[in-house]
Amino acid sequence: MSTLIKNAKVVLPHEVADVDVLVDDARIADIDPAMQIAADEVIDASGLHLIPGVIDDQVHFREPGLTHKEDLAHASAACAKGGVTTFFEMPNTSPTTTTCDALHAKLELAAGKSIVNYAFYIGATTENVDELKRAQRTPGIKIFIGSSTGNMLVDEQEALEQIFAETSLPITAHCEDEATVQANAQRYADVHDVAIHSQIRDHQAAWIATRRAVDLAKRHRHRFHVLHVSTAAEVELFRDHQSLLTAEACPHHLFFNVDDYERLGSLVQMNPSLKLKSDNEGIWQALLDGEIQVIATDHAPHQLAEKQQPYPASPSGLPAVENSLALLLDQVNRGHCTIQQVVHWMCDAPARVWDLLYKGRIEVGYDADLVLVDLELRQQVLNENQLTKCGWSPWHGVELQGWPVRTWVRGQQVFGPEGVDRSHRGTEAIFDHQRGGYWATQD
Ligand code: DOR
Repeated sequence: MSTLIKNAKVVLPHEVADVDVLVDDARIADIDPAMQIAADEVIDASGLHLIPGVIDDQVHFREPGLTHKEDLAHASAACAKGGVTTFFEMPNTSPTTTTCDALHAKLELAAGKSIVNYAFYIGATTENVDELKRAQRTPGIKIFIGSSTGNMLVDEQEALEQIFAETSLPITAHCEDEATVQANAQRYADVHDVAIHSQIRDHQAAWIATRRAVDLAKRHRHRFHVLHVSTAAEVELFRDHQSLLTAEACPHHLFFNVDDYERLGSLVQMNPSLKLKSDNEGIWQALLDGEIQVIATDHAPHQLAEKQQPYPASPSGLPAVENSLALLLDQVNRGHCTIQQVVHWMCDAPARVWDLLYKGRIEVGYDADLVLVDLELRQQVLNENQLTKCGWSPWHGVELQGWPVRTWVRGQQVFGPEGVDRSHRGTEAIFDHQRGGYWATQD
């Protein structure tokens, strides 16, 4: 099957060009101005931009074990609609992904259910370093240096030292200092207003844990990716990246802050917590300056009924995969960034951070994971239109300008005017960790 995509503005690695793109089976076969070539299907993409599929390197899709909140079928449909063609999923499912067997079981599950491409992290415990050493077919190791949803805390210094010293896969971590969080939680035990969440999981908790993880990474010369940076101050800790450190920002830490608790309550309760408007601004500036390289969602769905329990029974996390690209394209329309920067943060950079092969760019030989976006299209985010199983979005009622209108996964259309093709199956993401990550693959 071949597809010729004509007349789009194509976001290439170093320019936005008026070129046609030929897809042959699963790969990009040719990129040239005005191709006169026969293809099984010709798409006239006049007025649209063609970008690589989004790679979301932090999602929680809840399968196995927590499928009343989300599952691979719903979540991957939401991805297809949102322009996300590959996801990397976190280990806090039930059972947790803390053995090679559990990792392989998840890969098998996804092969049967996921519409888009998939990968799964292996999670650290205080006792599974041998599993972490043996693990393959994964982007890397996830450590919960602070506790969050699930029971996966690794807080002891000795265990952390061992993981950084003895393993070779890249490491990523949830960084909120457990001792600080517990002390604050005790101090505010009588407060049930959800806004207290940001004082319990405060600036200091984020700073201490990120500093600790960065220190481990530098001493052990181990590649390390800081997940969901929530404070402007943390950027200072990895500015001197020493070719080891990369970092990630999430849409909720860019576009929400503590002022939003009044309107949205526990819908915007997440870990790390929301911080101040100055933190939104500092994180955005760090993206523009290249000090944070990746945007990912931390898609963490919970049922509305669960969220509506009084704090602190309300769980932390919010869904985002189907709106993250639109949220960033809206920023392009507001003049806050360029579409090339969005493609860097959401496609190219995550592929390079994790040594993901053949993805993240529109280049001959790369996988035809592609998205057509309409920068003119204005649409409201509405709960009733969400494909995520939890059925709500914290951006309900917000109008965004700039939306994905067609998505291909390895050359097969999975989303278009007719909606999502739920019969398609994605493939396992392939990693080559010898490539050396983001800083080793600069061009
Ligand atoms: O708010 C969050 N929810 N942060 C996390 O790190 C985990 C996530 C979840 O799994 O619910």
